Amino acid sequence: MRLLIIGGTGLLGQYLVLEAYQRGWEVTATYHDNDAKIGTRTLVHMDVRNEGEVSEILRSVRPEAVILAAGITDLDRCETNPQEAWEVNAEGTLNVAAACKLNDIKLLYISTDAVFNGQKREPYYEFDTPDPLSIYAQTKLEAERITLDADQRNIVARISLLYGWNRLIDKENFVTWTLSRLRAGEMVNLFEDRRTCPTYAPHCAKVLLKLLDKEGQGIYHVAGADCLDRYEMGLKVAEVFDLPSSLCRRASVDDSDLIARRGRYLCLSSQKVEAELDIRMMSFEDGLKAMQSTDSSRVDVGD
Ligand SMILES: NC(=O)c1ccc[n+]([C@@H]2O[C@H](COP(=O)([O-])OP(=O)(O)OC[C@H]3O[C@@H](n4cnc5c(N)ncnc54)[C@H](OP(=O)(O)O)[C@@H]3O)[C@@H](O)[C@H]2O)c1
Repeated sequence: MRLLIIGGTGLLGQYLVLEAYQRGWEVTATYHDNDAKIGTRTLVHMDVRNEGEVSEILRSVRPEAVILAAGITDLDRCETNPQEAWEVNAEGTLNVAAACKLNDIKLLYISTDAVFNGQKREPYYEFDTPDPLSIYAQTKLEAERITLDADQRNIVARISLLYGWNRLIDKENFVTWTLSRLRAGEMVNLFEDRRTCPTYAPHCAKVLLKLLDKEGQGIYHVAGADCLDRYEMGLKVAEVFDLPSSLCRRASVDDSDLIARRGRYLCLSSQKVEAELDIRMMSFEDGLKAMQSTDSSRVDVGD
């Protein structure tokens, strides 16, 4: 398979690249601000807002499939810079989806649990009605619509709170952030009123490539097996990494200075992808153990 991964420097993107190499696929990956290398491989620059650059790269790479894992992922940045959020997340997706349609290329778009309002109190299914609460979520939902309008055979994969070692750039995720504070002996305030399904980035990447390989179509939820609040996650991080759980302190989202509105219960049911691919999504404990057993050295990919 000849694959183009847009957003190869992201937390998910870097593991998609690694996993695709391991499958022996021919991979081209893009960066935007972070001109990183994965092993000895150089990434190519792409700004999804630049329609000409998007079509030129698609024309020269001639991929059989494209994974769009790029975007502005910081909810508060989207809320305070709505124009940038719409340009990158929605119009950027339009540029990619249009170029894919023109060249008859399958597109897998990475979306989010945040398209839901979090009022359901039980896991969301693919057929539940979205109700985005933030600019970020609105732009992602619009990108989903663009992806499937371009071709019903495209894939939208909604994922949830990603974690794992970031081996390319210094950008923390919930687990690495919690770990570095616990290791420094600092107290960590953890929301007990926001639930999500923490999703181990390397495993998520594996499942997404399998979905592409098995010719999935339409919307899929691809999230970790456990529905946890941040306090419960903090306790599990402390337990697995043998750090003092007494440093974890319960906090409420109401006392935070977050700007964008976030749903309180954003757990996803991954039953559909599990049944179609005959797989099990990973538990949080197993993901943390996998992190513990790997060091945080940089990615090394052979030629
Ligand atoms: N992280 C989560 O917890 C989470 C949860 C649910 C859904 N998601 C979704 O999953 C996907 C991957 O998330 P992530 O956390 O791996 O993302 P990330 O680490 O924030 O990486 C974002 C990627 O987008 C690229 N990018 C930013 N602006 C761009 C532009 N204008 N044109 C082209 N590329 C651009 C970045 O490139 P540079 O680094 O080179 O600038 C980077 O490769 C996103 O679509 C996100 O919405 C993430």
